[in-house]
Amino acid sequence: MFVRSVELNNYRNYGSLALDLSPGINLFYGDNAQGKTNLLEAVYACATTSSHRSSKDREIIAFGAEEAHVRLYVEKRGVTKRLDYHISRAKGKEAAIDGIPLAKTSELLGQLHVVFFSPEDLKIIKSSPVERRTFLNVELCQLSPLYTRLLVEYKKTLMQRNALLKEAREKSEYRKLLDIYDEKLSACGEQLMQERAAFTEELAGIASSIHRDLTEGKETLSISYEPGADPGKMGETLFMTRDRDIAAGSTGCGPHRDEIGFAIDEISVKHYGSQGQQRTTALSLKLAEIELVKRKIGEAPVLLLDDVLSELDENRQDKLLGSIREIQTLLTCTGMDEFVKRQINVDKKWKVVSGSLTQGV
Ligand SMILES: Nc1ncnc2c1ncn2[C@@H]1O[C@H](COP(=O)(O)OP(=O)(O)O)[C@@H](O)[C@H]1O
Ligand SMILES: [Mg+2]
Repeated sequence: MFVRSVELNNYRNYGSLALDLSPGINLFYGDNAQGKTNLLEAVYACATTSSHRSSKDREIIAFGAEEAHVRLYVEKRGVTKRLDYHISRAKGKEAAIDGIPLAKTSELLGQLHVVFFSPEDLKIIKSSPVERRTFLNVELCQLSPLYTRLLVEYKKTLMQRNALLKEAREKSEYRKLLDIYDEKLSACGEQLMQERAAFTEELAGIASSIHRDLTEGKETLSISYEPGADPGKMGETLFMTRDRDIAAGSTGCGPHRDEIGFAIDEISVKHYGSQGQQRTTALSLKLAEIELVKRKIGEAPVLLLDDVLSELDENRQDKLLGSIREIQTLLTCTGMDEFVKRQINVDKKWKVVSGSLTQGV
């Protein structure tokens, strides 16, 4: 699959923009703070209905404007679809496929599959567990509408249960109500954990062979899913630990406490890995993600590479670039030097200056 064209209106520092992409490698270069990341973010936002960097959707609306619009023409198995993603300050998010409005914006998920790779991802191993759970969610939501529904339901129920836990401190009659929430939460939670376990296992197998290749056979990477509740026993645990939860005012077990462990030759990368090992692990993980998507949907995702090349040494750059030959890539960097030096084949390139693009310079 690939994105044929992108149109933006009042999206961050873009007033209006229309550009046709190549199905191959598209390069956006320019100084800092010109709009390179914003452009990749717009494609990501239309694919995933969220921004990779801001928690508040409305932040993508250009300063002083009322609404932002992203339109993508996406080609998949010879069929072109028009995806519209719209955010207004008054009404929030809306989306449409081929001009037909969607009841929920989440129905846009799965239309365009993207893998985003930025310098922050190179730190995914070291950063907080939230980042690793987000990694799982972003990927699984694109792959499975069922997962998306479960996740939304789980988050909603978790918030309600936590609110009730606080109430139950004062009013003991609220305790009884917790039964209903425990049942709902554990039903969703168990399914989420199953999906995450299966996904992580498959990803681990692929990542391990990629990692071996990246390190010329020197290192063995293993990735493990560490669920935030004993699978099959979440309901029971919620009941057993209810008093503790009431005292804390929050839910102590469940997939919102999940972790992913990374080990090289059985030693934790997070605690003992060198910076180089952490980066290579992150790269293995991202490359595995691309491969897994290919297997699952029978097509390559679109790769968004934001400023990562300069963060990798030449060997890792080669491995990364070698594996994106068949994949539409939108790539940003600050200078052209590394591309000229490394003779990388770029199909189309643009210079980005304050939210406007000039092609082929
Ligand atoms: N909602 C917004 N409206 C207008 N400009 C914005 C908005 N959000 C971010 N910006 C501007 O976008 C610029 C950053 O663009 P970015 O794509 O991150 O740059 P880079 O080219 O370094 O990747 C900043 O100058 C910032 O002020
Ligand atoms: Mg940037």
